[in-house]
Amino acid sequence: MAYRVATITLNPAYDLLGFCPKVELGDVNLVQTNALLAAGKGINVAKVLTDLDVKLTVGGFLGKENRDGFDLLFESLGVIDKFQTIEGQTRINVKLTEQNSEVTDLNFSGFTVSDQDWQKFVTSSLEWLKDIDMVAISGSLPAGVSFSNFTKWMEQVKKICPKIVFDSSREALVAGLKANPWLIKPNDKELEMWVGRKLPTLPEIKAAAMELINGGVENVVISLGSKGALWVTKNEAWLAKPPKCKVISTVGAGDSMVGGLMYGLLTNQSIKDTLIFASSVAALSVEQAGVGISDRQAVNNMLEKIEIIAG
Ligand SMILES: Nc1ncnc2c1ncn2[C@@H]1O[C@H](COP(=O)(O)OP(=O)(O)OP(=O)(O)O)[C@@H](O)[C@H]1O
Ligand SMILES: [Mg+2]
Repeated sequence: MAYRVATITLNPAYDLLGFCPKVELGDVNLVQTNALLAAGKGINVAKVLTDLDVKLTVGGFLGKENRDGFDLLFESLGVIDKFQTIEGQTRINVKLTEQNSEVTDLNFSGFTVSDQDWQKFVTSSLEWLKDIDMVAISGSLPAGVSFSNFTKWMEQVKKICPKIVFDSSREALVAGLKANPWLIKPNDKELEMWVGRKLPTLPEIKAAAMELINGGVENVVISLGSKGALWVTKNEAWLAKPPKCKVISTVGAGDSMVGGLMYGLLTNQSIKDTLIFASSVAALSVEQAGVGISDRQAVNNMLEKIEIIAG
């Protein structure tokens, strides 16, 4: 369906996934290649929305030297590509799984965004976002983009596209929150970092969410991994608990949840139903290796297994 929706990933990556029974540091390791995927948090969200038949636009930065994998992905997804191509390479993140299921991440550095690149991005994004009603801004910032410039850009985006769904971590999360986005989806650890204290209980998590709401964020959805997710607004709060799932990989569970939240809101579902839907999409995502919805019926079946409680 044609919704005016977009996702922006400023710092995408190729994920190189491999299996090595035991990683020996300082030695030669033979690795079985499992996949090389064009990825990034906003791109993962776009995969989920595409699988739900939402036509959307994707944007951000990509390196000129290795754009092909992303071009192929965008073509297969049928998304409108507004990515700005810049000098250099998009970074590569190596994820090595060992025999004991432990995963080691090696996140390499990629391109650096110049001042000129950033200015061009600000001008063009503020133009094309005029035609968008809901935009997800996801992930970290690439080298060259300052936190203060990011905050300023978010503030400008908010003026033309008020429904910003924001999902990031660490300093980028702090910088983005200064613009008071419409909906945020930190996990409990990210919320703890923002408030600067531990949040061991649900009432404490809710109190921290209220601080953000009082500051001007309308929707705070805190994801709690296998414990579920808590959605807090000024007027209501809901806790959704997933059933026990057979975990294959939790990578991208947060992105799946963001995709599900956007879908529920785009299709005018209530906050409660949207949280149930997003929790179903996220629960199914942990039972598979990558992101995306391969079986729509499975999402429907999962809806009934989500426990929903007024928070
Ligand atoms: N083991 C699990 N079983 C069932 N559902 C899960 C599990 N782990 C995560 N989920 C679902 O996925 C949602 C998001 O997971 P999580 O809180 O781990 O996100 P995250 O830390 O932001 O992940 P990401 O690595 O994608 O950024 C949870 O709120 C929950 O609904
Ligand atoms: Mg996350």
